[in-house]
Amino acid sequence: MQIFYHEGSRTFHLCNDSISYIMTILRNGHLGQLYFGKRIQDKEDFSYLLETCERPMTSYLYENDRTFSLEHIRQEYPVFGTTDYRQPAVEILQENGSRISDFQYQSHEIREGKPGLRGLPATYAEENEEAKTLIVTLYDAVSGVRAELLYTIFALGGVLARSVRFFNAGGKTAYITRAMSLCLDLPDCDYEWLQLSGCWARECQIQTRNLAPGISSIGSMRGNSSHEQNPFLVLKRKHTDERQGEAIGFSFLYSGNFRIQAEVDAHETLRVLVGLDPETFTWKLAGGEAFQTPEAVMVYTDQGCNHMSQTFHRLYQKRLARGYWRDRPRPILINNWEATYFDFTEERLVELAKKAKECGVELFVLDDGWFGARSSDKAGLGDWVANRKRLAGGIAGLAEKIEGLGLKFGLWFEPEMVNKDSDFYRAHPDWILSTPERSASHGRYQYVLDFSRKEAVDAIYVQMAKILREAKVSYIKWDMNRSITECYSAALPPDRQGETYHRYMLGVYALYERLTSEFPDVLFESCASGGGRFDPGMLYYAPQGWASDNSDAVERLKIQYGASMCYPVSSIGSHVSVTPNHQVFRNTPLHTRANVACFGTFGYELDLNQLTKEELEEVKEQIAFFKRYRRVLQFGSFYRLKSPFEGNETVWMAVSEDQKTAIVGWYRVLNCVNASYTRVRLQGLHPAYRYRNARTGRYHYGDELMHVGLLTSDETAGQVPDGVEPYTDYESRIYVLEVEET
Ligand code: GLA
Repeated sequence: MQIFYHEGSRTFHLCNDSISYIMTILRNGHLGQLYFGKRIQDKEDFSYLLETCERPMTSYLYENDRTFSLEHIRQEYPVFGTTDYRQPAVEILQENGSRISDFQYQSHEIREGKPGLRGLPATYAEENEEAKTLIVTLYDAVSGVRAELLYTIFALGGVLARSVRFFNAGGKTAYITRAMSLCLDLPDCDYEWLQLSGCWARECQIQTRNLAPGISSIGSMRGNSSHEQNPFLVLKRKHTDERQGEAIGFSFLYSGNFRIQAEVDAHETLRVLVGLDPETFTWKLAGGEAFQTPEAVMVYTDQGCNHMSQTFHRLYQKRLARGYWRDRPRPILINNWEATYFDFTEERLVELAKKAKECGVELFVLDDGWFGARSSDKAGLGDWVANRKRLAGGIAGLAEKIEGLGLKFGLWFEPEMVNKDSDFYRAHPDWILSTPERSASHGRYQYVLDFSRKEAVDAIYVQMAKILREAKVSYIKWDMNRSITECYSAALPPDRQGETYHRYMLGVYALYERLTSEFPDVLFESCASGGGRFDPGMLYYAPQGWASDNSDAVERLKIQYGASMCYPVSSIGSHVSVTPNHQVFRNTPLHTRANVACFGTFGYELDLNQLTKEELEEVKEQIAFFKRYRRVLQFGSFYRLKSPFEGNETVWMAVSEDQKTAIVGWYRVLNCVNASYTRVRLQGLHPAYRYRNARTGRYHYGDELMHVGLLTSDETAGQVPDGVEPYTDYESRIYVLEVEET
């Protein structure tokens, strides 16, 4: 990996084995974009790539030059209103009311490694050799605002991480009304747009569309990154598929309001912007103050979407997630939520834990309902003290009992919320987000604590830390069950109200940082009514997230498949639940529920004491299987082979790093009569290794499995031969392929 600067042409070239990113300092001092794509050789000058031409109805910066118009020049950090009419990356409102600015190149610096972003999640380099960072400082002389553009290129993979730091070096107050983390001006718009959209219990649905003139955008103004739009976008060429072709993935490392958009202009060039949602954001930058944007990551590949996803997986698994659990296979858990909801006693919990232990489960998680006056969702949030009527020995007592059974103990919190019916709210009624003299809306009877206030965050920290110090808690599920409304902080002056949403997120991150550093062995799982905040920002603190409140195996195929576009299997929280399923009331076979959940963190969320003996035996086998293969399932290379969005069958697989073990998950939603012969061509195997298919006992070389395929047709559709169990709807199989050591 290298970062070149050619003084003569004032050109920057960042490259590694996969990609090149080339920029130049333009005649007006702004930074221009020349190329982003597959790695090309470096040379002194690429400035001819700058497209300038004389056009009618265009405005020009220089009287003697009718070619230099920012409207047509590809830029790195464009402003609006001074010959560029497209949406800008930055806007500074100044004391005199003007929003025009002129960010000119001032200096640059090339650093080994990657600097952290204070108070914000970010990818990182463990060794300096892993990455290089270019910091280009731009300066707007009139406002006195400096913008430092950070570009980090990693040694491995087609990844570029970007963010911007502002500093007000002048004496006048400036208001940042737009501060995108990334702008990428591309020379053509011949891309298909792919987004992950949905809603509660239907997250991460893949949606595609062709780009057209104008703006395509996704975003959130809900205060959480949202179920509706994941902060992730892929632009892929028309013929790109999973295995081949160009794609650029954009991912925003943030858990609050965001905007990702692509603007196609009249000349079919494309501007991509990724950053904080400008609609709900302003930041007052007084003289001497600094502001850091969150980070955005882009991944380029010419080897198809699956390769792009694998690049994100590796980065987010190894250089975004942190701490004790980063590389460790995750414990198999039992969560009591769908088993009991609020209706539990200590005895019932212990019975559930005992049965779970018998089956081989490793971690017992007590969900909502253990604290304060919480017996329904109308009370208790904010009072993080055990309800002694339910749990006589408190959390410490219950945790002791659970540990006594040989299980670890985990606990649910919803730190950012209060019910009005809570001691916490009664003590601090002004600590919720609400607008003066207007009523505050609720969601699930709860109100959002003003996490922009340090004292509110501290008070929650004190309660949580007390429990973590006193009780043997090994895991925390951190929930967030409503979006924000009336986002106003009683602690901020009027001209800083536009900062509230972002300050709220900074408060959330600060609490996460404090707890994860003080209790480094505790495994955190993020949750927001399922996948309402399933984003890379959260992954920095919590290496796994509950992907959806929908635990139905068929629904989960789409949710987990969609999530895998950006997120590694080790981050996708997935459980086996009861049938009929509690969200869609569907009956799927137990093995299918486990076959889907095992491509995730894996756990159970049902009352094991209600299962039959046979079912319990099956659960034990599932757990034994998962324990044996979880490293491959969670940390192997993940391949999407057949999409649930395109047909009745889904196939995906994971391959171990040494390529000696591969696990294929095959799923069929509806059974077919007299069905066709089917084969699936596998990927990622070693062509010359000889694999044993554990289902058939047959041996195959890797090249056969990849080019001829794995046979997946079955013999029972229509007529069932004697002695063969008929398949039904919602069928699935796991194929284990292993190289036998001799
Ligand atoms: C949210 C979570 C669930 C569960 C409930 C408890 O909906 O997503 O998993 O924890 O809250 O109230």
